[in-house]
Amino acid sequence: MCGIIGFCGYLDAKQELIKGLAELEYRGYDSAGIACFTERGIEVVKSVGKVAGLENKLPSRMESGCGIGHTRWATHGGVSEVNAHPHQCGNVTLIHNGIIENYHELAKELEETGRVPSSQTDTEIAAMLLDSLYHGDALAALRGAVDRLEGAYAFCIMFADQKDVIYCIRKGSPLVCCSSEEGSVVASDMVALLRYSKEYFVLPEYQVAKVTKNTITVMELDGTVVSPVMLSIHWDMSAAQKNGFKHYMLKEIHEQPEAIRRTLAPRMKKGEQLLPDFSEDGISDELFWDTNRVVITACGTAMHAGMMGRILMERLLRIPVSVEVASEFRYEDPILDEKSLVILVSQSGETADTLAALRLAKEKGAKTLSIVNVKGSSIARESDYVLYTHAGPEIAVASTKAYTAQLTAFYLLAFRFAYVAGKLSAQEVSEYMKGLDGVGELMEKVLEQKDKMKELSKRLTPAQDLFFIGRSLDYALSCEGSIKLKEITYIHSEAYAAGELKHGTLSLITGGVPVIALATQADVFAKMISNVKEVRARGAMVILITKEGNTAAIENGICDEHLVVPASDDIFAPFTAAIILQLLAYYTSSYRGLDVDQPRNLAKSVTVE
Ligand code: M6R
Repeated sequence: MCGIIGFCGYLDAKQELIKGLAELEYRGYDSAGIACFTERGIEVVKSVGKVAGLENKLPSRMESGCGIGHTRWATHGGVSEVNAHPHQCGNVTLIHNGIIENYHELAKELEETGRVPSSQTDTEIAAMLLDSLYHGDALAALRGAVDRLEGAYAFCIMFADQKDVIYCIRKGSPLVCCSSEEGSVVASDMVALLRYSKEYFVLPEYQVAKVTKNTITVMELDGTVVSPVMLSIHWDMSAAQKNGFKHYMLKEIHEQPEAIRRTLAPRMKKGEQLLPDFSEDGISDELFWDTNRVVITACGTAMHAGMMGRILMERLLRIPVSVEVASEFRYEDPILDEKSLVILVSQSGETADTLAALRLAKEKGAKTLSIVNVKGSSIARESDYVLYTHAGPEIAVASTKAYTAQLTAFYLLAFRFAYVAGKLSAQEVSEYMKGLDGVGELMEKVLEQKDKMKELSKRLTPAQDLFFIGRSLDYALSCEGSIKLKEITYIHSEAYAAGELKHGTLSLITGGVPVIALATQADVFAKMISNVKEVRARGAMVILITKEGNTAAIENGICDEHLVVPASDDIFAPFTAAIILQLLAYYTSSYRGLDVDQPRNLAKSVTVE
């Protein structure tokens, strides 16, 4: 939520900030602003709407080598210029990502000293607090502020009397930093650092980065200088660009076969048998020997990947596996002990609820393993074990390649775990691994047929309501298909376990209502076909998705449209069927003329509760 950037160096700061904000815009896009040190003092420009609008407002006379920029996803206070960041109070100009939970109490106290905010934001209260504590010593003011602030924050702060210096501090919300010949840069996400350097560090919580054009000094709050742990990015700029595709989402859908291959490669050690190998990840078999229960927790699409992981693991391992929405799990009192393994799934590695679930699991003594895409993110750093997905940067708000890379990670874990637990022989695992290795190629075949999905999406474009139905793995995928469709097309949609429809929902199925029915699993195929007939009998417009070879029982007229994914073992069908659902959502959104990559009210990385 919210993208923040600071630049201090030898280039035109306002232009660098605008470029950075455009790259961070997926984190929030309701308003934006920058502040720069100029010869006239600190100048601020803000605007409601997208970064492009802010760029048009920038005065050319705003000459500066040092400034901060922010793109907002509103939490406290509506979308308006006055609520947009940067916020200023006295000596302090700052930008913030996070939520100050005790801002109300702080505001009251500050009001008693005559300070009255002009916005409705928690951030302005933080600026007021810092200004009240600042008497020329930034560290002293930050120490005082850290003592008083509750909640999550990443701040970039400029003090009016310290020209061309930016101070940064964080708790909970992310902040990464890099130095280069062009200058020093800090940002919420490494995507905005790529143009400067591939070497970066994550600012540790409660440490201060003092950013000048030549150096970034990292200090404890008492002033002790510390050396940050450097990390390397293995992507280049093109990984974070559209590369000829109209939208990031379409590009990322096409990148899935590669993302899966990259996620598989370091874990596929070819010996006599093809077994998953986690030695490079530092995950030993002991973790599996010592586990009698698995709990998977995550949010949104990552949670849907977890639903698939649950079915697979329970089926292959025969131990209890449950899936919990992280925002609920964190406020429950889960029964966990040292024999429980809690698996956290997150593309960004920064989702506040998933991070809180991780901390709770650790507190309860469970072992924790995270499946994360962003290297060095909070969830990755705080988990006992990390299995990185190598999907590359995912920019579109709608998650696609991260999802199928997360599935890949679950399949690898399930296969290894089942082998270690003696539930599958080396040969059986090897066969499964060959199947998984072939998934990329199967996905490419589906991508070649994207025009079919494009054409078919025309039939979905006018819909107001839409249903997805499926059983077992297909039900887990239906949930993902449904969130994808609703988040970018704004069509109301629901995913139903197909057998559950007749317990109430069937009353919503009337003439012409689209139903996307997934029937790729042989063991429940006949049951699915009966469910399809039930909705068909009520006049639904049925799009049926089956797998090559499973089509025998499909009678003429049972559906309006029929899509077929390539033949494979049934357990791999979710990968190929996922592409169909993603493309249907993508083209429907395009036909509806919507902002595919940045749908209304959403943000890519949800670092607030
Ligand atoms: O970064 P995370 O994987 O933790 O994010 C979790 C969800 O916010 C995310 O998957 C969200 O549901 C996507 N926008 C769905 O496409």
